[in-house]
Amino acid sequence: VRKPEPSDKFSFGLWTVGWNAVDPFGTGTRPSLEPWEYTKKLAELGAWGITFHDNDVYDFDASDEERLRRVMKVKEVADDNGLVIEMVTTNTFTHPIFKDGGLTNNDRSIRRFGLRKILRNVDLAAELGASVFVMWGGREGAEYDSSKDLNASLNRYKEGLDTVAAYIKERGYDLTIGLEPKPNEPRGDIFLPTVGHALALIAELDNGDIVGLNPEVGHEQMANLNYTHGIAQALNAGKLFHIDLNGQSGLKYDQDKVFGHGDLASAFFTVDLIENGFPGGGPTYDGPRHFDYKPSRTEGMEGVWESAAANMEMYLMLKEKAQAFRADPRTQELMELASIPESSIPTIAESESLEEFLSDQTAFEEFDAKTAGEREYHFVELYQQAMRHLIG
Ligand code: GCO
Ligand code: MN
Ligand code: MN
Ligand code: MN
Repeated sequence: VRKPEPSDKFSFGLWTVGWNAVDPFGTGTRPSLEPWEYTKKLAELGAWGITFHDNDVYDFDASDEERLRRVMKVKEVADDNGLVIEMVTTNTFTHPIFKDGGLTNNDRSIRRFGLRKILRNVDLAAELGASVFVMWGGREGAEYDSSKDLNASLNRYKEGLDTVAAYIKERGYDLTIGLEPKPNEPRGDIFLPTVGHALALIAELDNGDIVGLNPEVGHEQMANLNYTHGIAQALNAGKLFHIDLNGQSGLKYDQDKVFGHGDLASAFFTVDLIENGFPGGGPTYDGPRHFDYKPSRTEGMEGVWESAAANMEMYLMLKEKAQAFRADPRTQELMELASIPESSIPTIAESESLEEFLSDQTAFEEFDAKTAGEREYHFVELYQQAMRHLIG
């Protein structure tokens, strides 16, 4: 497979390759480099962009001078190496102050602090030319059902998101917000556990027009859901603003494996959707192919760079296969046999009134339900056709 190029739009969070592998059971197994060192290396590997949390670049209690110096250093190295800073996000989960969340903390003074930290970072995102501002509410949630007034917490979540969105509009920033759902970890239950929950909340916001989603492969799979269906519904709603690609093997802790190293067949259909779009046309995603993975704790620095490259290689290999799958005339034939193109035709004709529909005897009274129930779809053969392209 060919080498990744900037036109592939691959991007990485600095916290991904930058994770030094501290976990709840053990110390770090790798050194921590400076953020600009990871930046340079990602460019060498063929990435197009980088993303980061404020505190991936400077400490929680860094002075204003220190903050500026370190951010500018990352920006300079990104510019020198032709990398775009496409997304910036805020860490509202590491410091003890956020142990009960930022926007939904029961403690009002902490919510006010959290909101200020986020707004300050919105300014930074705009200054650096980012186009998306991700909000992963990792600590917005609970372990104990007794610990929350859930109605109030959800209202505070909406208030916080609306305030950030209103601020973006008021300042005239060219930024959208990407909410990142996750069902659990680090909280026992995180608010906005899935794509669907987040879409429902966005629909209730006053400034929801600039609020969309950043769905992560592993997070939907941790909820036993289908990631491709999740991003499809976000696309259908005009809300797929960003994606976090990685790998997850079933219902476990958040594994953050390399993309495709979890459920390979699912990854194939994800790439198929992103690259080829829906079979009948419709909304498409042309944003960054962003990886949010963690080099496993067993890896040293060599493994860090091997795993970063593996994400892009997996994507490119799957892209090649997905394109060949769609271009194959046999695939088109099987899609026809499965009536997939027919699913694009509205059930009630545009010119047809409800009265006409109700009086159409062929639709119901004379309809041969027995024969219709016996029809073939060849769905298994169509899936097998995909597998021929994937592993044949
Ligand atoms: C996770 C999350 C986080 C967020 C990131 C961006 O693995 O639980 O993906 O990594 O994506 O913090 O806000
Ligand atoms: Mn994750
Ligand atoms: Mn993520
Ligand atoms: Mn992550």
